[in-house]
Amino acid sequence: MNSKESRKIQLHDFNPGRDCFYAEVLSGLQKPQKELPCKYFYDKRGSLLYERIYALDEYYIPRTEACIMETYIEEIVELLGPRVLLIEYGSGNCAKTRILLNHLHDLAAYVPIDISLEQLLRVTKQLTSDYPGLEVLPVCTDYTSDFELPVPKQPSDHAAIYFPGSTIGNFEPMLAKLFLERIAAVGGPGGGLLIGVDLKKDQTLLHRAYNDPLGVTAAFNLNLLERINRELGCDFQRERFEHHAFYNPQEGRVEMHLVSLKDQTVHLDGVSIPFTQGESIWTESSYKYTLNEFGQMAAAAGLKVEHIWVDEQQWFSVQYLINPKGTTS
Ligand code: AVI
Repeated sequence: MNSKESRKIQLHDFNPGRDCFYAEVLSGLQKPQKELPCKYFYDKRGSLLYERIYALDEYYIPRTEACIMETYIEEIVELLGPRVLLIEYGSGNCAKTRILLNHLHDLAAYVPIDISLEQLLRVTKQLTSDYPGLEVLPVCTDYTSDFELPVPKQPSDHAAIYFPGSTIGNFEPMLAKLFLERIAAVGGPGGGLLIGVDLKKDQTLLHRAYNDPLGVTAAFNLNLLERINRELGCDFQRERFEHHAFYNPQEGRVEMHLVSLKDQTVHLDGVSIPFTQGESIWTESSYKYTLNEFGQMAAAAGLKVEHIWVDEQQWFSVQYLINPKGTTS
């Protein structure tokens, strides 16, 4: 772990780094169905493109979730309780977090966790100046791996993990359950989880959300190839691939792929990776759940659903789960 003072920011840096990125890209591209982990979308440009996705009319998730949070913030704060250590997984630009920070006046500390170092430092600086009394303890890591939590100066009553945006939908269901188990362990006895979960809905709406007419989602998807070229010296030609996103009703997920427009060979560190025309690299799954399906998964992970808030159209849910037995790792 590199711990460095950066303009008074005490950063806890466990970033997996280039070797890990290289190994995951190489093994993904050598599978029969080629795949790349979606966590690598978020380099500097990818994070900016994701902010543009956030602002799209077609991408209903952020505004629906923000509306639920704003409408029910008093109830949410009441359930979270006093002197919380708030830990956010995948904090991104922290836009939604501000709704919580504006109402949680006696937080013990706020721990934003993100894989994008630039964004984490920028956001920490902003929050430190916007919330002068708040201790912000950023952790740069891939939050699916093990990492140490920083210790806040003030004692906390309990920990609450905040995992908005339906990022849980980007995990395969088996891994989602394991991830919830880990969260239960991190939160510890009496710990809570405030989580955004996208719901099953009309397929046309889902299709539009991942195929916006401005092509921002396509640019976000294709940026992964440019990142791999830049950071790993690969020779993908972006114009030879096309964004493809669709809802798979059997699996209950939106799939994003990059489809090869011709037969071609790409090179990564001396390794040749052949593509046939029409072959795809699977870059992301975004699972959608019914309330019942998600409740069953939470229960299997040892978490109790304490409260669910949904929007009028029942497109999205914000749920508060607790660890009643105090599952430990
Ligand atoms: C981060 N995650 C929840 C987004 C999603 O909807 O699966 C990522 C995204 N991919 C395309 N558009 C947005």
